[in-house]
Amino acid sequence: MSLASTLVPVLSPAGPAAQAIAEVSWVLITGATLLFVGTMALLAWALFRKRRGGEVRSLWWLAGGGLVLPLVVLTALFFYSLHRAPPWKAVPPADALVVSVTGRMWWWEIRYRDPVSGATIATANELRMPVGRPVYLGLSSAEVIHSLWIPELGGKMDMVPGRVNHLLLQASRAGVYRGQCAEFCGEAHARMALHAVAMEAGEFDAWLAGQARPAVVSSSSAVSLQAGRAVFEGQKCAVCHMVRGVAEGSKLGPDLTHVGSRLFIASGTLKNGPLEMKQWLARVHEVKPGARMPSFARLSQGEMDALVQWLGALK
Ligand code: CUA
Repeated sequence: MSLASTLVPVLSPAGPAAQAIAEVSWVLITGATLLFVGTMALLAWALFRKRRGGEVRSLWWLAGGGLVLPLVVLTALFFYSLHRAPPWKAVPPADALVVSVTGRMWWWEIRYRDPVSGATIATANELRMPVGRPVYLGLSSAEVIHSLWIPELGGKMDMVPGRVNHLLLQASRAGVYRGQCAEFCGEAHARMALHAVAMEAGEFDAWLAGQARPAVVSSSSAVSLQAGRAVFEGQKCAVCHMVRGVAEGSKLGPDLTHVGSRLFIASGTLKNGPLEMKQWLARVHEVKPGARMPSFARLSQGEMDALVQWLGALK
């Protein structure tokens, strides 16, 4: 990630939709700078002339600079930005990958369709996408208005309960692009992030096939993993979290079937690793004030270790 993309991700586009926005932004920044410098130069010139006892024909300047110039500039910008805006598409392009994203308080439910079985594959907070292929997002919300914004890939789109908005994104190079909820939606709004992960087509297909499978815990230390699963069951985590093949049904919280394969946890708040997972589980509301999950500080060291090891093995 370059310095520019960290500071101003909008100006380091990684796809055609973001490219158009960056281009319009540069035109606006350059134009505004030229106009500002020009106006200041004229002001200096007028003051200088006045001081020397000369005359400034202010009415002429007012009409030209205050009326004619803005009219010309704004009209030109209007047509230019219309021309550069990405075309609105009511139906997905034929080669597009269709993904549904639902805003929740305060995380993102992401659903793919299994190209083999047609079944729905649910994941959370991580939008994996193949490089070079359009991704047609169906955006909605479960309760309040959220807004999806991944600045390096495209513009914002509101997620409104009861309707489906669409956004067409495409990544032109592999990478991890941070997105953020862009509509104030309550206490944890600022911690409602997600990551778009653009990967080569083959890699993406393999990833999707893996996500389609129920939870597989294949490890040499299967005995200690059993202990982790027992903690998950004993603490009733399945009241909110689904782990396909282990605990089916609940869709209140993020699907954890393959949580070990994700790059981040807690909606982009922490990197995914055993230490961070422990921090999260033990002090949920310090990490993410407002989060609707209880803390599990009551777990013993051994229980916590086992639970974290099991979650990490859900790849
Ligand atoms: Cu969701 Cu702000």
